[in-house]
Amino acid sequence: MHVELKSTFESGLPPGDSHPYRSGVWRPQASEFDAWDMDVVEGAIPEDLSGVYLRNTENPLFEPIKRYHPFDGDAMLHAISFGNGEARYANRFVRTDGFLAEQEAKQSLWAGITEHPSNAIAEHGWGARTMMKDNASTDVVVHGGVALASFYQCGELYRLDPRTLEDLGQTSWGGKFPAEGVSAHPKIDEHTGEMLFFNYSAEAPYMHYGVVSRDGELTNYIDVPLPGPRLPHDMAFTENWSILNDLPLYWDPKALADGYYSNRFDRDGASRFALIPRHGRTEDIRWFEADPTFVLHWTNAYEDGDEVVLDGFFQHNPTARGTSRMPPELKGFETLDMNVLQARAHRWRFNLVTGECREESLSDLCTEFPMINGRHAGRRHRYSYNAICAEHLFAFDGLVKHDLDTGSEEVVSFEEGVFISETVMAPRDGSIAEDDGYLVTFTSDMVNDVSECLILDAARPTDGPVARIRLPERIASGTHSTWASAADL
Ligand SMILES: [Fe+2]
Repeated sequence: MHVELKSTFESGLPPGDSHPYRSGVWRPQASEFDAWDMDVVEGAIPEDLSGVYLRNTENPLFEPIKRYHPFDGDAMLHAISFGNGEARYANRFVRTDGFLAEQEAKQSLWAGITEHPSNAIAEHGWGARTMMKDNASTDVVVHGGVALASFYQCGELYRLDPRTLEDLGQTSWGGKFPAEGVSAHPKIDEHTGEMLFFNYSAEAPYMHYGVVSRDGELTNYIDVPLPGPRLPHDMAFTENWSILNDLPLYWDPKALADGYYSNRFDRDGASRFALIPRHGRTEDIRWFEADPTFVLHWTNAYEDGDEVVLDGFFQHNPTARGTSRMPPELKGFETLDMNVLQARAHRWRFNLVTGECREESLSDLCTEFPMINGRHAGRRHRYSYNAICAEHLFAFDGLVKHDLDTGSEEVVSFEEGVFISETVMAPRDGSIAEDDGYLVTFTSDMVNDVSECLILDAARPTDGPVARIRLPERIASGTHSTWASAADL
């Protein structure tokens, strides 16, 4: 392997840091590398795998003002690109305004998600609750051939070259980028090249929805009025409908009136779903109601006759009520454990004729962070690839291939101490069958202190690795990832 060290940043974190989300599998990195002529330690890189796997993470460099939460780290992207049986790797911090300002100040300037916003040292900030650092560390998608890093509390979309991770600045959409920012989890329709997005805030109308063309033109931006401030995390779409949500877990209005942001779950409330024609107006929104829950991520949605089908992960215990087995150092982080939240695959069916919603549980397993073959996004899908979450910790130690037609679930397990990333499904060049392709992930191996890019056969994921490619150093566990085929770069 040829490795070129590009930069090393000063870390103000204590030596021997024991914070559970700044040590172990979440140990942050301070260096940026380029690597090529990669060491393939098992198998061979497929000749018919062409594109790039990108993964974001939370990678802090300074002590927090008061309290660190794993969603407060700075964004670091990892990219491995494939073509002609070869791979190249790069990792880079996302040069957000906040990251650059803190580098200059050599300290944290913004309050994290578990700190009061008034703790911020900086005089301006970002996010739905304001005065946060837009750390761009939640998600990454590729739109119009450019990688976009995003922040779940709403912020800028930071642009990078998807292969080299060269900094390309902020998204402007010709001056029409919304003042409210954009939340993480914008969706790409590979068939039209459009990007669909939403944002939310503490100010009426509390949510907006928008569409951006393949060429980066904002072609729709509308109000989605809600009864109050909400905390939507993800959205879904079909060929004709975009689906936003108003779920009964949100900032407690009484606390909010005093400037505090604490979550409250209204067990008597309903889960509300907004079905919006992709290019429709506010008055075109159709609302549906279902059982109360919180959903972090949707798998996909599609149209089926008179119905719109939505798959996602119903949290059966969204407030982590009754959790008592957490190790002391992980107290306060209970809601990061999808096993505690009891997040299980679930299906909602919205009938456009009757206005009714039917719903059903699809699995007994606790899983989350789903991925599908991106060509099926917004279209009927049969397979999803879901992460199994490690006990107590926000980290993944297994993978499930869920066949939604038969209900069968194939579990891929890894050696003790090996954690994987959100795993993408990369269609094989020229493939037609939905699961004809590769599952691509990054591992963090705590036993051997290494990281690898692991490639599995999506049709037979339990058959063992197609290839294992060594990375320059062990990388931290991560947040979201994406796959972009060479044709979309
Ligand atoms: Fe997310």
